[in-house]
Amino acid sequence: MPTRAYITTPLYYVNAEPHVGSTYTNVVADTVARFYRQRGVPTMLQTGTDEHGEKIAQAAEAAGMTPKAFVDQVSAKFQGTWDSVGIRYDHFLRTSDPDHVRFVQEVLARLYEQGDIYFGSYEGLYCVGCERLYTEKELESGLCPLHQTPPTKISEANYFFRMAKYQEQTRRHIETTPGFIHPEGYRNEALAMLREDLGDLCISRPKERLQWGIELPFDAGYVTYVWFDALLNYVSGPKALGRLDELWPATLHLIGKDILKPHAVFWPTMLIAAGYPLYERLGVHGYWSSGGHKMSKSLGNVVQPLAIRDAYGMDALRYFLLREMVFGHDADFTEQALVTRLNADLANGLGNLVSRTLAMNEKYFESRVQAPRPADPADEALAAAFARARRELDEHVGELAFHRGLEAVWRAIDAANKYVADQAPFKLVKDEAQRPRVGAILHNCLEALRSAAQLLAPFLPDSAERIREALGLSPERFADLDLAWGEAFPEGHAISSAINLFPRVETAAGAKQAPR
Ligand code: MSP
Repeated sequence: MPTRAYITTPLYYVNAEPHVGSTYTNVVADTVARFYRQRGVPTMLQTGTDEHGEKIAQAAEAAGMTPKAFVDQVSAKFQGTWDSVGIRYDHFLRTSDPDHVRFVQEVLARLYEQGDIYFGSYEGLYCVGCERLYTEKELESGLCPLHQTPPTKISEANYFFRMAKYQEQTRRHIETTPGFIHPEGYRNEALAMLREDLGDLCISRPKERLQWGIELPFDAGYVTYVWFDALLNYVSGPKALGRLDELWPATLHLIGKDILKPHAVFWPTMLIAAGYPLYERLGVHGYWSSGGHKMSKSLGNVVQPLAIRDAYGMDALRYFLLREMVFGHDADFTEQALVTRLNADLANGLGNLVSRTLAMNEKYFESRVQAPRPADPADEALAAAFARARRELDEHVGELAFHRGLEAVWRAIDAANKYVADQAPFKLVKDEAQRPRVGAILHNCLEALRSAAQLLAPFLPDSAERIREALGLSPERFADLDLAWGEAFPEGHAISSAINLFPRVETAAGAKQAPR
């Protein structure tokens, strides 16, 4: 286990609203943070909004609002969405926060003084959607590979950061630090970029063209390039909280594959120049499509997290996102696929184990926990299945292989359902002499539920909480991951009657069309 965790998500551009892509990153970040908190690791999770630059200025204009009023409104929407889908962040940073603005200017002034920023002329092909320059080679038939739009040719006088000076050191660091960029494929992509002649990074925009940004401390005629501004959030956040020494370097930056270059190239070179240690790890995930198509407003296939939550519950969405996508690869979102997993894994697998265990305990023992004896070798095998699931889960979360972590827990849940079928307490109960054994079987089932809920708490926090309540365990007791099997419940302890944790869904509700 690490000794501390500082986890970050990208800062979302406020030109669009939260969708399933941004929700995925935040669900991953939230799950990892909950996982470490549960294991007693001091943890900080930072998310927020990226509010400057041309793209935002254009979106504000299109909305007929001032940039400030516009970003206030959309940033609040992001924060509200994360609050209502249960993302437990410790700090929500906005790049318009005065502390952040001050820090960006401090870093710029320092780099300027040390000769790492110079004035020069700038010419290139710029995509406003990406807020970055493209080389001819990177374009596809002359178009931005992500937006399929022609870039704008720009030629103007600007300030440059001496990125090339730090390129070699960055490349060496990535080459000699296994796991620095995960998965491996993105590490190779980053190294390929760093083997090219990247040149220096243009870090300003003249105010004649763009006013919406952080003014350069050494030239009031310019604002800062939005990426140079935004990347610094990862340091300015902990600094604003007065916790920089304790939190930096970040232990995990989570991003999507489209923003690999700024994070694997710009950011390390900026950190080296500014004299900060490099972050420990960059976790890069793939893209969500929707019904086989790129998610877009014009296609009307943007999946909104709140609509899905309203239709199926937040845990169903979290489960689907974490189980369906192999971290690093692309995945497709359809409501039908979500419903299939909800029914098979959540309703039949976990929900069924919860309801039958509680129902039998109610019917046979008036919801009182019985002694765990007489024992049978099958009981030990069940306990071992959960111990194995915990070991595997720890390993898989460490590798950001969330789907494997969930698979490991489900193997134990399946073992518990099989245990019920094999031990058949519903048959034994007909023989009065077997009553103690029936009580022991149900005791083991309750331990299985307790263990499953503990292991799943970082992934499915609402469901874990409902199981905890049904089992009548105090939050303190439930927090103890090292409770020995057979010791969680005193004999005679009262539990609740059956609950229906995940009702089966017959057909997809069409949540993405639901008005919001
Ligand atoms: N503002 C920059 C990040 C600055 S971080 C210092 C930005 N913002 S964004 O809103 O465009 O994208 C934020 C994140 O959402 C990125 O990690 C991006 O990969 C992710 N996603 C956007 N659409 C996505 C999908 N359809 N699927 C998965 N993730 C996607 O870039």
